[in-house]
Amino acid sequence: MKILEASNYEGMSRKAANIISAQVILFPRSVLGLATGSTPLGIYRQLIDWYQKGDIDFSHVTSVNLDEYCGLGPDDSQSYRYYMNTNFFRHINIRTENTFVPDGLAEDFEEECRRYDERVSALGGIDLQLLGIGETGHIGFNEPDDTFDKMTHQVALKQKTIEANSRFFKSPDEVPQYALTMGIKAIMQAKKILLVANGPKKADVLEKALFGPVTPEVPASILQLHPDVTVVADSEALRVIH
Ligand code: F6R
Repeated sequence: MKILEASNYEGMSRKAANIISAQVILFPRSVLGLATGSTPLGIYRQLIDWYQKGDIDFSHVTSVNLDEYCGLGPDDSQSYRYYMNTNFFRHINIRTENTFVPDGLAEDFEEECRRYDERVSALGGIDLQLLGIGETGHIGFNEPDDTFDKMTHQVALKQKTIEANSRFFKSPDEVPQYALTMGIKAIMQAKKILLVANGPKKADVLEKALFGPVTPEVPASILQLHPDVTVVADSEALRVIH
């Protein structure tokens, strides 16, 4: 595992964007696993900037997102599909038909989960997976549990996650209680993983994930077993190495 420290959020975003842009420049047909949330916003802004300057071409890239809230569709401003479209896809030349996010409005969530796993396999897996980390230690929405969930599945969000994500909603009551998330297997099968974190709120969980025991109680701890993980974090989140 490589750990890269940045002095602040902008530095973290630039270093992480550099890793993604190198992947796309060297392998234009890459399958990128993408994440939402606050942490990657600066990365997407940086990549858009480099795209606008003519430095990166996304026309052959395919993307698969980690997760989506159950019950929210693409037009809902809180859905992850809406987030991806407005914060990234709309500003670059990725082809919309090559971008995949689980369908939060699917009639049959089990079927949607199966379909999503098949999609990821049909693409040959993920070349570079971008991950944030939740305060519960979740990656995607793989919440703490007794076992690691391998496949895409529906998950009941932990109260802490609902509270953390309520900042995007008018009140915690509006945060969906369920989500669909890619499982640990697809994440761990990604050829490369890029985990990003910033701010003091992530310091405890990052310490557990990177240096604690590998346990489904801290889902991100499984990344210790992956052969090619780069962690890019600011100094507040990386308190443990100081
Ligand atoms: C989002 C996702 C989540 C977030 C995590 C951190 O697609 O999969 O695991 O990465 O909740 O969120 P932020 O970045 O908002 O702290």
